[in-house]
Amino acid sequence: MAPIAITPEASPEREIYVKKSVQVRSHSSSFSSIKLNDGNVIPQVALGVYKAPNGQETEDAVTAALDAGYRHIDSAARYANEEACGRAIRRWLERTGTPRDEVFICSKLWDADHGFEATFNALCESLDKFGLDYLDLYLIHSPAEDEEKRLESWRALETAQRLGKVKSIGVSNFGASHIESLLENARVVPAVNQVEVHPFCQRQALVDLCNENGIRIEAYSPLARGNKLQDPTICAIAEKYGKTSAQVLLNWSASRGNVVLPKSLTAHRIQSNLESFDFKLSPEDVAAIDNLEENYVTGSMHKSHD
Ligand SMILES: NC(=O)c1ccc[n+]([C@@H]2O[C@H](COP(=O)([O-])OP(=O)(O)OC[C@H]3O[C@@H](n4cnc5c(N)ncnc54)[C@H](OP(=O)(O)O)[C@@H]3O)[C@@H](O)[C@H]2O)c1
Repeated sequence: MAPIAITPEASPEREIYVKKSVQVRSHSSSFSSIKLNDGNVIPQVALGVYKAPNGQETEDAVTAALDAGYRHIDSAARYANEEACGRAIRRWLERTGTPRDEVFICSKLWDADHGFEATFNALCESLDKFGLDYLDLYLIHSPAEDEEKRLESWRALETAQRLGKVKSIGVSNFGASHIESLLENARVVPAVNQVEVHPFCQRQALVDLCNENGIRIEAYSPLARGNKLQDPTICAIAEKYGKTSAQVLLNWSASRGNVVLPKSLTAHRIQSNLESFDFKLSPEDVAAIDNLEENYVTGSMHKSHD
């Protein structure tokens, strides 16, 4: 797809969506979908594909996920596997006769592509790699340090949304100051902020700020990259419900209203992660998990200290 020269509207009216998001039950799967602040609906669980190769292993994982009932794939230009994801999604849609609009596909603008035109071109390149006409969600992967550049990238996302190249737009790794700056300057409030969130890294102040402004939290590394599956509190709670530690972590996060993005390339884990939402943690167990906060951050992408 050739890059398109495009400029932002000259006198934009602010289109701030801060409607309360609501939970709606998905028809095709056992987990909920959530209505975003722009009216679009997002499946609450996604297959994450960070560190998944651009080849058969990822195609198999995406296919296994769609067969299992996932309807949401979280990729990024930086993961360099949009082609493999796109191939698997397009083949699965064709094989099953499922309409495109029943699968929710997210990608992200990499840091090197900030700025109005560069952002627009990067989005077109991602669409090309996926082999798709539009994405369901496009995120700024992490905030540019320079505020003006950050806002230019956001204006490109707003323009792409108006042109139908992407249905919803959002951000990732934005701290409170980045969110506040966007709220002051943007026409469209981000639909989501994708940040590392799990019991050991809860980011409560940032989560509260996003919730107050109708910005849905997408919890990345919801399994703390597998590093906390032996935690004694999590293990004891898992045993009590006859669930795995991973299922308890995903259930805790989803019960807070977060979108959760567990990554796995292993078919049985892809399946079992989807079976995390058919039980309800008691208030005592939720409180015990809430107490595990220790600011344990597995990644290096978050660009502020909140
Ligand atoms: N926006 C950002 O900057 C950002 C940053 C990080 C992540 N993300 C997104 O969030 C997704 C998830 O985060 P993540 O990949 O960092 O970590 P994660 O989902 O917390 O953990 C993934 C690790 O846990 C293992 N695992 C998965 N299910 C398991 C289970 N049921 N039991 C035991 N181990 C299990 C996986 O191994 P196997 O694959 O071998 O099963 C993998 O090693 C990413 O793929 C990406 O889509 C976004």
